[in-house]
Amino acid sequence: MAERSETAAAPRPPRAAPHPSRNPLTRAIDSFWNPTPASLRLLALLGVIGNAGIVATGGAVRVTKSGLGCPEWPRCTGDSLVPTHNPSHSAANMAIEFGNRMLTFVVLALGVLVFVAALRLRPRRRDLVRLAFAQPMSVVAQAVVGGIVVLTKLHPAAVALHFLVSPALLVFCVALWERSREGDAAPEPVVRPLLRRLSALLACAAAAVLVAGTVVTGTGPHAGDDKARRWGFQIEDVTRVHSGLAWLTVGLTVLALIAAYRTGAPTAYRNRVLTLVGLELAQGALGYIQYFMGVPGPLVVLHMLGSVLVWIMALRILFATRDRGPMPAAEPAPSAPSPRTAPQPA
Ligand code: HEM
Repeated sequence: MAERSETAAAPRPPRAAPHPSRNPLTRAIDSFWNPTPASLRLLALLGVIGNAGIVATGGAVRVTKSGLGCPEWPRCTGDSLVPTHNPSHSAANMAIEFGNRMLTFVVLALGVLVFVAALRLRPRRRDLVRLAFAQPMSVVAQAVVGGIVVLTKLHPAAVALHFLVSPALLVFCVALWERSREGDAAPEPVVRPLLRRLSALLACAAAAVLVAGTVVTGTGPHAGDDKARRWGFQIEDVTRVHSGLAWLTVGLTVLALIAAYRTGAPTAYRNRVLTLVGLELAQGALGYIQYFMGVPGPLVVLHMLGSVLVWIMALRILFATRDRGPMPAAEPAPSAPSPRTAPQPA
């Protein structure tokens, strides 16, 4: 009681973050238990990297024909959660598929940490908590779709859906990463309406390229297992649609770049659009090289990684079209030792 009235009477001392520890483990725990805007941003970035990485490892499963290395789900084989001797699957295929399943847990753990950090950040932001909550939930959804892929014996529609959940999940990850560096004020446009519309169109075109790419994959040779079903399209036709959409996306991006320079759009916006042009050209070149080389596995994995990088940048461009003010200064999390109560050195 006495302490309360003392607090009410005395001017509030400035709130400071807990003393940074030199111990890396304590620092790691602090990053989510006593988060600062910077540590939440870092965790959000790790979420983006983890989710982009898991696309590449999923690709590695497919091109090494390890898709049914664990033929059951959620168990690996009939009676075991982990790979055991199985005459119909090589040890390498089992290890690759099982390793990919384990990585899902790493990304899930990261999602949980991001969520805890968003909950404990002070002042608490409901938008960040909601975005962070979507992360572990979407990883769970991804695990379920992964199970459907195995149970349908790698049906191309299920494989396509499994890939496409990642870009969908990345929408939340990128949104959290971007939103955790800005305030909660009403969004103020910082580019002309034409550029805002062009940026939205660009993101839609990029999404269409991703969907069309999964049809090419479902038609091509990398099914993930020799016995898996394939779409009955002509590979030349579906590749033409996919690359045509990619060229449309490049065209829209170049248009956005020209408009950005002509209308004096902010440097951050221009830089992101310029980076996207570079990523798209590299990705397109890789697409043609892999097509004419008969889709060698390593290039396919690179192409998949490139596709999520293109997607992340297309999303980041949307966030650069408006401003929501600066991030509010940090306050200590509920149980963080305050400078007044923290033990002082003798
Ligand atoms: C912005 C440019 C591009 C993006 C974002 C992109 C994205 C993608 C995606 C998401 C996939 C499906 C991955 C999967 O389901 O596992 C894919 C597959 C493919 N893309 Fe592209 N792509 C682009 C440009 C091109 C171009 C210009 C070509 C040229 C022919 C091309 C050729 C292919 C081929 C052959 C596949 C099938 C690979 C396989 O068999 O797994 N891509 N692409």
